Amino acid sequence: MNPLQGKRIVLGVSGSVAAYKAADLASKLTQAGAQVEVVLSEGAEHFIAPLTFSALTGRRVHTSLWTDEAHVLHVGLGEGADAVVIAPCSANTLAKLAVGLADNLLTLTALAARGPVFVAPAMDGGMFEHPATQANLQILRQRGVRVLGPARGRMASGLVGWGRMLEPAEILGQLRLALAQGGPLSGRHVVVSAGGTQEPLDPVRYLTNRSSGKQGFALAQAALDLGARVSLVVGATAAALPTPTGAERTDVVTAAQMAEVVLQLAQTADALIMAAAVADFRPRQVQAQKIKKERLPQLELEPTPDILLAVAEARQRTGRPRVVVGFAAESENLLANAQDKLKRKRLSLLVANDITAPDAGFAVETNRVTLLWPDGRVEPLPLMTKSEVAEAVLARVVGLLEGG
Ligand code: CTP
Repeated sequence: MNPLQGKRIVLGVSGSVAAYKAADLASKLTQAGAQVEVVLSEGAEHFIAPLTFSALTGRRVHTSLWTDEAHVLHVGLGEGADAVVIAPCSANTLAKLAVGLADNLLTLTALAARGPVFVAPAMDGGMFEHPATQANLQILRQRGVRVLGPARGRMASGLVGWGRMLEPAEILGQLRLALAQGGPLSGRHVVVSAGGTQEPLDPVRYLTNRSSGKQGFALAQAALDLGARVSLVVGATAAALPTPTGAERTDVVTAAQMAEVVLQLAQTADALIMAAAVADFRPRQVQAQKIKKERLPQLELEPTPDILLAVAEARQRTGRPRVVVGFAAESENLLANAQDKLKRKRLSLLVANDITAPDAGFAVETNRVTLLWPDGRVEPLPLMTKSEVAEAVLARVVGLLEGG
């Protein structure tokens, strides 16, 4: 389950032209299952209407300090929040937070907060680089406030510099990551491989496969959601997928490169999940020049290194990784082939899927998998989204690491 699910998040919006992006953030947080309490400063109300936020969150939006219930409100909002995020945080609000002012409902709520506070600065011109702003940020950081961004780029004035608010997806990722800390995989290092490799034939051609990398990326996200440190090794077919916030990503092209990176990371890993569709064979010779059709070649292939076999050997000496999960994408004799792989590669768990099923395997959003255990247990899972499959696999990894 994603760590934002069911959490109370106060979203403070201050007076900045980036306030319109806060509407997207409110929507994303709500869709992630958070209960979003929006507090607007007076400045924010000049840029965006409260109705936008109440429509997106399905909750009342808080604006004024001067109402009968304001006292109860700020205590309730600030103290009860799992996190307070101020996005956009203007230079003015930043300065107020640094001195601890409580002159509107937003700053007052931030002062009453007991949980983590995040600020996403947004300001134009040279305001971000001004020594006053930098000093305020320093004070806030020392107090444990998490500063997200800003990004560099074009600002509303047309100037280019530091001061653009981070994109809502990035802010959401940072919150998700922070709230996952302390989960059952805290202190654990999980290595995930994802996507298909490409094996060059000449400078323009290669052999590859249909792996989208979606299942591997979902596994990395699920491990992060449980508090793990995650290394994500990405094959070329998944290069365009966005990195889950917090994952340490290495991009590779060939099976040999993936082998080198995975074997290195596996030395310190608690768990390795090989979801990548590693090419099993490659051209024996890579031509230095583009092959001409007049000299049509016979393709001679050779096997690539089997990464899981190499991991199994190293693991016998070092005991690491404690848990190794493999995948088997089969088009026939699913269970028999999968059983064989489980044994040959000495896996802790094997996730098998029948790639001929229309709702499972490559490029679709869903997967239908069967889990195979070394003691012979066969556990078929129902049709699930790839995120749900990832959560189910990670739940088993937690159990295995805890000795269950
Ligand atoms: N794998 C690997 N190294 C390879 C090929 C595959 O580590 N060179 C891993 C995959 O990441 C996957 C598992 O092994 O977790 C099974 O991959 P698959 O290609 O289905 O198995 P193979 O061992 O190649 O067996 P076969 O060719 O008989 O299907």
